[in-house]
Amino acid sequence: MKNPDLRRVDAHEKVTGTARYGADRVPDDLAYAMFAPATIGKGRTLSIDTAAAEAVPGVRLVLTRFTEDELRGPGFLMGGGFAFQSLQPLLSDVVAYRGQPIALVVADTPVAATEAAELVRARYETEPFAVGLDDEGATSVLQEEVLPWFPDVKVGDAESAYAASPVQIDETYVHPAQHQVPMELMSSVVEWRGDRLVVHESTQNAGALRHGVAAQLNLDPADVEVISPYVGGGFGSRNALQPHIGPLALAARRLMRPVKLVVPRPQTFHTGSFRPVSRHRIRLGADSSGRLLAALHDAEHQTSRHDLYPAMFTEMTSRLYAVPNFGGRQRLVQTDVQTPGFMRAPMEGPASFAFESAIDALAYATGQDPVELRLANDTATDPVTGLPFSSRHLAQCLTRGAERFGWDKRDPRPGSMRAADGSLVGMGVAVGGHPVLVAPAVARMSAAADGRVTVSVDGHEMGQGIRSAIALLVAEDLGVPVRDVVVRVGDTRFAPQHLTAGAWGTATALPAVHKALGELRKHLGTGDTGTVDVAATVRATGGGSPEVEVTSVGPGQPPEMLDRSRAGLFSAAGPVFPDFTAFSWVAHFVEVRIEATTRRISVPRALCVADCGRVASPVTAASQVRGGVVWGISQALRESSEVDGRFGGFLNTTLEEYPFAVNADIQEIDFDFIDEPDLLLNDLGVKGLGEVTMIGAAAAVANAVFHATGQRQNQLPIRIEHVM
Ligand code: MOS
Repeated sequence: MKNPDLRRVDAHEKVTGTARYGADRVPDDLAYAMFAPATIGKGRTLSIDTAAAEAVPGVRLVLTRFTEDELRGPGFLMGGGFAFQSLQPLLSDVVAYRGQPIALVVADTPVAATEAAELVRARYETEPFAVGLDDEGATSVLQEEVLPWFPDVKVGDAESAYAASPVQIDETYVHPAQHQVPMELMSSVVEWRGDRLVVHESTQNAGALRHGVAAQLNLDPADVEVISPYVGGGFGSRNALQPHIGPLALAARRLMRPVKLVVPRPQTFHTGSFRPVSRHRIRLGADSSGRLLAALHDAEHQTSRHDLYPAMFTEMTSRLYAVPNFGGRQRLVQTDVQTPGFMRAPMEGPASFAFESAIDALAYATGQDPVELRLANDTATDPVTGLPFSSRHLAQCLTRGAERFGWDKRDPRPGSMRAADGSLVGMGVAVGGHPVLVAPAVARMSAAADGRVTVSVDGHEMGQGIRSAIALLVAEDLGVPVRDVVVRVGDTRFAPQHLTAGAWGTATALPAVHKALGELRKHLGTGDTGTVDVAATVRATGGGSPEVEVTSVGPGQPPEMLDRSRAGLFSAAGPVFPDFTAFSWVAHFVEVRIEATTRRISVPRALCVADCGRVASPVTAASQVRGGVVWGISQALRESSEVDGRFGGFLNTTLEEYPFAVNADIQEIDFDFIDEPDLLLNDLGVKGLGEVTMIGAAAAVANAVFHATGQRQNQLPIRIEHVM
């Protein structure tokens, strides 16, 4: 590591409990809110009886309806609005899905609010509903017909090339719905300071929150402040305005008191987004040596009735290999749920499980080694556009990984390897890619006479380490101690705060900070490089605190992206690079053991080799990899949000019933970085890392399970009953 004094700049705050999360604010005279959720799968409320709730001691308000004048709809983030879904609860009698809030209680204590919310009773008129892809009443639409700006990927004539291929693989894979379940619950503290609204919430998108709630309440966005210095896990669940903020703000104004809401874990399964269920039919055509001639990827994924959450599965699967003919077709299935949304590796996670399982099947069908088959189909150019990749070290990820993992010790015959205790042993490989997304960013930087340098920039600290990466960059550039660098992120008072997601946070913030460093150096007259004695230089310039502000708009970003992100609107997906295609890449190697009698599946070791450009912050990058692999194992073996056509909504809404990987499930996780800067993208050569580390991990587990047992796994999670 270049700078040994850097671990994680906020480590001390985190472990001592001084880091402030959304619910950690306790202003004077605070009141507590709780929602009462609908208990039917779909329909409308005929009447809501709040008398018992109002009679609970300490209850101050029970609200069941706002007028359109008080509270406008927030709009759907992916449809030009601000919120995770367009549906605003408490604006009408419509119950779109089970779990939708129908009343808001505010009380002096959380206990009173909870008790009262449970006493709210509604009479309903019910309607038939659909929650699964194949349920009666689920309606399917071709994505490019309803969302023409998300066209399917089509190269050559895939159907004909597939039909003419000597070797054909045709498999269908189902990926379940899942929920993000971050450790920190969804929580907000909303307070009025005169006409100004101040929101403390752990969010990935303080800008959308600010502009969205301003639009909903007819406020000037300048009168809304959103403060979110830390996020206790986002994973996509906090990437937009939550429709509870408007009602909380209105309740706070009526009571003239600050209001806090901490959404209980079971309610979070219905009050925020989730990863929708998806189904993928993969057809691969190849010659007898395994060289790909055609690939067809037909995908369906779930959305809500009220919003069209787009599928973007084929953007990656069309670019993994040199496939001359590719046919993507994506369908959206409208069901009676809240609108789904992004969850780590939102598209590429499920897509890679399907596609990379099919590639493994092709390797076996052609008698090729799964690593060799992938290397033989590698490509230096983007098969969709014909442009070069800005950088692609995927083959190196595979070869370096195979060597480090000991792939040569693998006997390729399924079911052929045993551990000393009799367990079946399997080794699997899979690769993944994630488009490099970057957004425009504003950075402000000032130097003070005490030697400290303060940076304010677009970006949210979700635990991924953006603050550490920024502090390290500034410290190394100026030659100052890391402790003298103050980093402000997630706070609309100091810089605009566009969405941090899609692994673009660090790749977006660092180029802006780098540019600001250049400006600060000019301002201080210190030359372009070399150590700066900040305190002495500031004193020499007259002792004030010189501040610079820069706006960084990277390559491929049209000017309207900046306008959109300044307005809190979604704008990051789709930087269009004219001369190249940019992806981060990864290869995963996994060993599984299947206990001979119980068939319990475990993962004694996993290896991830990532090409994320330059590694900006080694310690936090390592954590990102571990987190991605842990989640890939969880995706493969544990997680599923269950639905039941009799009830609607999701059923397993507690941590007891929604299993995910825990410490006991995780053993050795090894990793390596290619660490080659991608200088076509930015001066620093950084690409995204957070998402790509999860992509392909579940497929590697599934492929290892096949190797151990000879049984293909076309569904996740893989459970004991699938390997009997
Ligand atoms: Mo990430 S799933 O794009 O917050």
